[in-house]
Amino acid sequence: MIKGFIFDLDGVITDTAELHYLAWKRLAEEMNWQFDRDVNERLRGVSRMDSINIIKDHNNATVAEDRLLELATMKNDIYVASLDTLTPNDYLPGAKELLTHLRQEGFRVALGSASKNATKVLEQLEAIGYFDIIGDGNSVSKSKPEPDIFLYGAEKLELKAEECIVYEDAEAGIDAAKAGGFYAVGIGPDDRVGHADVRFDSMAEATLFAVKSHFKELF
Ligand code: BG6
Ligand code: MG
Repeated sequence: MIKGFIFDLDGVITDTAELHYLAWKRLAEEMNWQFDRDVNERLRGVSRMDSINIIKDHNNATVAEDRLLELATMKNDIYVASLDTLTPNDYLPGAKELLTHLRQEGFRVALGSASKNATKVLEQLEAIGYFDIIGDGNSVSKSKPEPDIFLYGAEKLELKAEECIVYEDAEAGIDAAKAGGFYAVGIGPDDRVGHADVRFDSMAEATLFAVKSHFKELF
């Protein structure tokens, strides 16, 4: 029986996935590195350091470890500055309504994000109150596609994996949810999250009603 929901943040609750993309793009431009939306696809759901390593390898660049850290910090500074524009109007369509319904129906709710900036994003959205537990990039050391962040959320909610539904927009995130034994709802195109238990094009379609209809026997 489903008792809890665990949400990814960037690209599920709000469109910060786009702000991450723009920040990486700015950094790549400064470094004269090739970077486009195809490369960005591989960064979705992946930690900051794993992301910069993917971009560096894509460019066959050799970068010392401390310089790599410096570059990741530069990207983060650009990203964090862009978060100042985020307001409570910036939920992805359907996300706020879903969180409200879950609260009304008494489900337990956790965040399971790879981002170390997750709390800042939730504060900007005024969304902290929707979550019983906030799992972020500081909560576990192994990032998606490892299941650790979702297992952390379930444990803190005092639920088993099979009692939770995970919402994710990243290929690595769906892999993580499945590896942990969770039911996975994919938000986005088939080639990205088609391996989820159920997939919707957008959060606006992934309502509580739609999810309950799909997982009928679990509610
Ligand atoms: C994930 C994003 O949620 O968080 C990734 O999908 C990002 O793009 C990762 O790299 C880490 O975020 P941050 O804010 O800690 O750099
Ligand atoms: Mg995401």
